Amino acid sequence: MGTSLLIKNGLLVSSDGLRRADILIEGERTVHVGQVGQAERVAQVIDADGWLVLPGLIDVHVHLRQPGGEHKEDFYTGTCAALAGGVTTVFAMPNTAPAITDAETFERALALAERNAVCDYGLFLGATRHNATLKRGHPDLRECGLKIYMGSSTGDLLVEDFAAQYEHFAHYPPERVIAVHAEHEPAVRYFEAQGLRRPPICAELEVARAVALADYCRRRLHVCHISTRREVEIIAEAKARGVPVTCEFTPHHLFLTEETARARKDALGDLLPASLFEMNPPLRSRQDVDALWAGLAIADCIATDHAPHTLAEKRSANPPMGVPGLETMLPLLLTAAHAGKLRLEDIARLCCEGPARVYNIAGKGRIAPGFDADLILVDPEAEWVIGDKPLFTKCNWTPFMGWPMRGAIRRAFVRGRLAFDDGRIIVERGCGKLARNW
Ligand code: DOR
Ligand code: ZN
Repeated sequence: MGTSLLIKNGLLVSSDGLRRADILIEGERTVHVGQVGQAERVAQVIDADGWLVLPGLIDVHVHLRQPGGEHKEDFYTGTCAALAGGVTTVFAMPNTAPAITDAETFERALALAERNAVCDYGLFLGATRHNATLKRGHPDLRECGLKIYMGSSTGDLLVEDFAAQYEHFAHYPPERVIAVHAEHEPAVRYFEAQGLRRPPICAELEVARAVALADYCRRRLHVCHISTRREVEIIAEAKARGVPVTCEFTPHHLFLTEETARARKDALGDLLPASLFEMNPPLRSRQDVDALWAGLAIADCIATDHAPHTLAEKRSANPPMGVPGLETMLPLLLTAAHAGKLRLEDIARLCCEGPARVYNIAGKGRIAPGFDADLILVDPEAEWVIGDKPLFTKCNWTPFMGWPMRGAIRRAFVRGRLAFDDGRIIVERGCGKLARNW
């Protein structure tokens, strides 16, 4: 029993409350939670007195840029950033170069993840106008879900017309998750021609369409990055009617508004180009942001949409959209919890249990016997400032630079193994594994 580990005296966080308990881990799994007492046969004991213990976070929306965007991020740097942010499982988006749209590109991306990731991962398959029946020929493809870009964003994935969208909703296995980037492309183009960037109606139109498709086809749908009050209402109404729909909110849509981004830009001038606050869908008004906070109960997940781009790209005349988020999501949420804006229980629900439920991830998202020992230790009292230590993300910036934080991630364990220890990644490339779902 040389691989056993006992974490004593921590305050365990789950959606139904906080409790002081010990956690006994053998190999990759948690085997006991409760009072463990004196265990002589345990190889290692960690005293977590004064610390919170959470299940490792599961971020179901990240862009790790491999293959083709390695100058922005790769599976190694992106998963290092994940661990530093308390995230022990990431689901990677398929808008790479080339995009992940068939068995060949999928297997190639999987091989890259296997060789480089330091936390566990899933990989999305990307929808195109022509691959709606791909799963028939490849039922064993191990993708975590299908991502449909119903509106355009970074990369060349786009399925904007009704017929092509419908084919995917009709053919993809109904119990598996279709995740959508829902912005109505004709509206996006129309407003762009007027010099307006993706006003709320773009997202609202397409979210309504995605929900109608899921309802009509009686199939699972997950709506990414909900950003407006009206979208919250659409999702709430759909859920109340029993449509099998789930959704995620992002940290940037919760913590930034179009006004705060503008004010920071005015204060800091060219030090921070406006594009550091630009993503798809864009930041919204204070009223929309308030509606997200008020509607947190209908959210199933908080996911980062970690979308790193280099500063040089962001400073260019035609900057790409997106912001990194892996290292700042949990600190922002802990700080908000400290301020009473949400409860620690909500963090466990939205960042651990919810993602595992939405994507049917086996053995993750909770601290319980039989579950993977993906755990993080958090010092809830630590005070620090974002940017006061180097970031792990290759792009090396964040829109939250200079924000004071309360609560810091001290350790991250992936399947029983200490992977992040007080600011350092101490595991080798390739120790991450494909998370099992279906
Ligand atoms: O802002 C965004 N950036 N939104 C997306 O949908 C894609 C992402 C990216 O890949 O850069
Ligand atoms: Zn995204």
